[in-house]
Amino acid sequence: MRMYDIIKNKRDHKELSKDEIDFFIENYVTGEVTDYQTSALLMAIYLNGFTEVETSNLTMAMVNSGDVIDLTMIDGIKLDKHSTGGVGDKTSLILIPMVAAAGGKVAKLSGRGLGHTGGTLDKLESIPGFNIEVDEAKFKDLVQNAGLVIAGQTQNLVPADKKIYALRDVTATVDSIPLIAASIMSKKIASGSDAILLDVKYGEGAFMKTAKDAEELARAMVSIGKNLGRNTSAAITLMGEPLGYAVGNALEIQEVIEVLSNRGPDDLRELCLELGAQMLKLGNIEVDVEKGRKLLEELLANGKALSKLRELVVNQGGDPAVIDNPKKFTISPLIHEVKSPKEGYVFDLDAEKVGISSLITGAGRETKADNIDHGAGILLKIKMGDYVKKGDVLATLYSSHENLFVKAEEVLLEAYDIQDKKPAKVSIINKII
Ligand code: URA
Repeated sequence: MRMYDIIKNKRDHKELSKDEIDFFIENYVTGEVTDYQTSALLMAIYLNGFTEVETSNLTMAMVNSGDVIDLTMIDGIKLDKHSTGGVGDKTSLILIPMVAAAGGKVAKLSGRGLGHTGGTLDKLESIPGFNIEVDEAKFKDLVQNAGLVIAGQTQNLVPADKKIYALRDVTATVDSIPLIAASIMSKKIASGSDAILLDVKYGEGAFMKTAKDAEELARAMVSIGKNLGRNTSAAITLMGEPLGYAVGNALEIQEVIEVLSNRGPDDLRELCLELGAQMLKLGNIEVDVEKGRKLLEELLANGKALSKLRELVVNQGGDPAVIDNPKKFTISPLIHEVKSPKEGYVFDLDAEKVGISSLITGAGRETKADNIDHGAGILLKIKMGDYVKKGDVLATLYSSHENLFVKAEEVLLEAYDIQDKKPAKVSIINKII
């Protein structure tokens, strides 16, 4: 078999066989197949597409390029959840304790934030002592006995994805649905869970800008899951404005604790209840979504969901004092209030710009190597549909460096579109697939 022929076949719109896809991935990881040949194939896939079968075969070939976590010895259905990333998206940290408190077993490998979106690991590391490096034996023990674990990906999990993603990034082939779907699902399948809930976001703050594109990606991922024997569902959800009011790591964990204490913002609580009920269905814990929702509401009201978060923190070396008293979180010492330049309704609040403003305060990273300030970020006071007068406080910025406020404020003000008319209310959940 020759890589040349594989590229030619895809260029000529032929369906690649499983053997051809396996050959490509195996030899690309070892370096026999070069970056320039892989770039040509990626562009052919981008332009000519990949069938459902090709995409599933690519996913499995990528899974087999590295370590696979075997959770089969753990009883019950092991659950995982993935979000395509958003601004203020702290849903995993609410959902996972809620589902575990309901008797689910959640095994989650997470990533770090990059650009305007945040990452679950960065948020967790704002808890003093919290350790995201969990070895495989401990990972399995926590899934079996505590029902929840959230850890960083090991170096050798889907190495093919790391190499291919880096190449896609510089060859204008990132936004190809089959390549995105295979990239995300390969990491989920290698993590060992039996059932996967995907939160595929669309809108200004998301990777997919329209509901149609998000649905196409969701369908591609659900079909990979089904073809590879994983029970998979996807929620198509709007990321128009940030979720909740907090953007930034420690600030977001404080909001997580609010929701788990049966308070917190409605949009975030609603999304978590809906996604949580879908997870209970996937896990066969409560197949009736309405009853699942009720069960989760009870676990928020009786404190059991919050206790599960505390247990997660203790199990992974974190200091539970901040969970018991969220005021103990270290928040960046400098504060700057951003005031409204005019009167009217907030007609739009651009999540991507809010994310960039938060990054500028120090809460995010522009490149993978950047350090972040866990206490920095934004607390929004005003969101879409709210009425403001000129000079009212829209949001408070937190940072460790005074000089960062000028740019962060400028970008945040661009995020607010204030008009005479009130925007129509749009439901966050567009569809469940
Ligand atoms: N996230 C991933 O993990 N892979 C992609 O290709 C895009 C987003």
